Amino acid sequence: MEVIIRPNADAAADLVAQIIAQELRANPHIVLGLATGRTMETVYARLVEMHRCAENPLDFSLCRTFNLDEYVGLGPDDPCSYRYYMNHHLFSKVNIDRRNTHLPNGLAADLDAECQRYEDKIRQCNGIDLQLLGIGSAGHIGFNEPLSALRSRTRVKALSPVTLAQNAPLFPDPGKMPRRAITMGVGTILECRRCLVLATGSHKADIVAKAVEGPITAMISATALQLHPRCTVVVDEEAAAKLQGTDYYRWVFENEPEWEPFRTGRES
Ligand code: F6R
Repeated sequence: MEVIIRPNADAAADLVAQIIAQELRANPHIVLGLATGRTMETVYARLVEMHRCAENPLDFSLCRTFNLDEYVGLGPDDPCSYRYYMNHHLFSKVNIDRRNTHLPNGLAADLDAECQRYEDKIRQCNGIDLQLLGIGSAGHIGFNEPLSALRSRTRVKALSPVTLAQNAPLFPDPGKMPRRAITMGVGTILECRRCLVLATGSHKADIVAKAVEGPITAMISATALQLHPRCTVVVDEEAAAKLQGTDYYRWVFENEPEWEPFRTGRES
């Protein structure tokens, strides 16, 4: 795992967008794993900007995407569904082929069959190359709530009270927030070739410290990322506030050749 600390939330999101852009330019057929949530909105806005850049537009025409999760019971036209979020923030604004964008179907009659279909589809695409991840207030990745098995696969998960409290304000009638979601499992996520995590804001400082420097536990699924051979965690100063090893993390980013292209700011 490596941790990169940027001065503020915009700079952190900008770096994440730059890493995605670098991987997409290197492999136009890339299979991207995508996340939703408030933290990712700036990342998608930045990717849209890069796509619209006249000199060197970022091309999404050949890539394929798989989202981490979807609420059970919400369809694509529901503004609270993750399909709607993705269409709104990214897919409708770049030249991606909608047929290459995948999310679990929260309206499926047979939810278990839908979870298996999603796993099969990821496998047919030869797995996920780069998985974007946020971290929930209680440390979930995707909707892998406390006690999610570290080898879990895509399945229906009941949302924890912390997650219900975190996301209810995003629903016009918070009482109507679904209590279950389909989510890629921790095991599914760990199979991707690279993980890219973004967490910003002081409210994420405690959970970031636990996820990065704490013991691995099924109570906090983000700690499982410590098992991944290539996981980059990008945080802003506020989210980094409770980390112990920041001097070392900063030294690595400032000195390792891999990060040289990313030290000087925005690609356009
Ligand atoms: C969303 C997802 C979640 C969020 C997490 C953080 O697809 O998988 O794990 O990334 O809940 O959400 P925000 O960014 O709203 O704090």
